[in-house]
Amino acid sequence: MPSLVSALRLRGIRKTFPGVLALDGVDFDLLSGEVHILLGENGAGKSTLMKIISGASRRDAGTMEIAGVPVDLTGPRHAQELGIGIIYQELNLVPHLSVAENILLGREPMLCPGVLDRRRLRRIAQELLDELGLTIAAGAVVSSLGVAEQQMVEVAKALSLDARVLIMDEPTSALTSQEIERLFATIRRLKARGVGIIYISHRMEELFAIGDRVTVLRDGRYIGTKAIGECTLDSLIAMMTGRDLDAQFPKEAARPGEVALRVEGLGRNGVLHDISFSVRRGEIVGLAGLMGSGRTELARALFGADAIDCGRIEVHGRERRIRSPREAIDLGLGFLTEDRKTQGLVLALSVQSNLCLPSLDKYARGGVMMETRERAAAGRMVDELHIKTPGLQQRADCLSGGNQQKVVLGKWLCTAADILIFDEPTRGIDVGAKVEIYRLMNRLAAQGAAILMISSELPEILGMSDRILVMHEGRIAREFSAGATQEQLLAAALGRSV
Ligand SMILES: Nc1ncnc2c1ncn2[C@@H]1O[C@H](COP(=O)(O)OP(=O)(O)OP(=O)(O)O)[C@@H](O)[C@H]1O
Ligand SMILES: [Mg+2]
Repeated sequence: MPSLVSALRLRGIRKTFPGVLALDGVDFDLLSGEVHILLGENGAGKSTLMKIISGASRRDAGTMEIAGVPVDLTGPRHAQELGIGIIYQELNLVPHLSVAENILLGREPMLCPGVLDRRRLRRIAQELLDELGLTIAAGAVVSSLGVAEQQMVEVAKALSLDARVLIMDEPTSALTSQEIERLFATIRRLKARGVGIIYISHRMEELFAIGDRVTVLRDGRYIGTKAIGECTLDSLIAMMTGRDLDAQFPKEAARPGEVALRVEGLGRNGVLHDISFSVRRGEIVGLAGLMGSGRTELARALFGADAIDCGRIEVHGRERRIRSPREAIDLGLGFLTEDRKTQGLVLALSVQSNLCLPSLDKYARGGVMMETRERAAAGRMVDELHIKTPGLQQRADCLSGGNQQKVVLGKWLCTAADILIFDEPTRGIDVGAKVEIYRLMNRLAAQGAAILMISSELPEILGMSDRILVMHEGRIAREFSAGATQEQLLAAALGRSV
């Protein structure tokens, strides 16, 4: 049970950005030893509130107390000194430094002033990684790690701070179920030590697994705080959105047409082996598998981002050699990447430019007219996906995490692409907006698009796919029809025969 000792107390927190009232008088209480869920739709103000608590951003009004003492944070370092640690939603590591250097950045052990104690640095970092049960080497360069591993390094870094308050802003968005279990075990240990934890996630089942209390924000306003035990999924969704949700997976029956994409015997040395499958027009084919099973590698190979060593790819019945993403796009392929920060978005460009980027050809001729069409197309996407932005000219990096993801998705929905590869399309997207995205996928399929959907969320795979491929160690281990069970998929993903 959490104690009744106040770790953090916020009253009347207000924060505005140009054109946006992000927080409108928000109250929040965190007790020592509790996991407090912060819940709200994309753009509700969760990350903004966390940045204020961690000293990364200043409030315009309101008060903040840490362990009963009023504070005015001067910056992130000040917050760290007061025992507040944060794992940011957008990964925040220095790519060319090692894992150990990242974990202990600014607090490196020294042999004497100016001389780094490299051995101790590695050892301390390795102990933290081991405590999390990770197989990451402390000496590895961060840029060589995948998204999930980077996220776990962020967790290790936060642990090293020995924080009294630990903020986790969507820590599991890129983790597999085993990694999530490991993280939860760590969270329970921290709780037992009296650390107060603020936890943000759009995976609703996690909230019930790990949370003690939940506070809901909507449009920057405080809606309420409840014990998790008093909540149901439906009651939380109603608090978040102000309405009820009819169906979590609104899958419509497919009418498969001719084969749009056929892959035969595709291989890439050491990564992909003898991959054969096809996707028809009108079909949504789910691609499941554990992290590292080769799903993203397969997508990259199809999209011409990585070379293949053998095998053939047919697009609409004709064999094609796809040597670059440009060639893939010209053939009508679209690829929503899992890593939106480095591959999906140009953060310094506007929402409109990002949405229209891969379809520039459509708008490129004839100046003003085209700008009008570009604006109209972007405007439609913003409406359809409910992208929360003060305008089409807003810079992409000013949007909330989930809204950035919607822009990446919208950019492929704007193109004429009719073979779409979606890698984790709803990562970081709130429950209500997920349904909108599923509806759009239905519509694209109904219009004749062929969709290959990579996802780590088995309910999503089962809820939205017409057929399911499961990868294991670079091969397609099994194919299932839509009626498969979660256990069957998991067994195939683990390489067991069913
Ligand atoms: N630096 C910024 N400049 C302008 N607007 C911003 C900035 N940061 C956030 N906003 C706006 O403030 C609002 C709240 O954003 P915030 O990132 O806190 O949402 P969130 O609840 O974390 O959403 P998500 O679930 O998508 O991560 C959004 O409308 C967002 O566009
Ligand atoms: Mg956020």
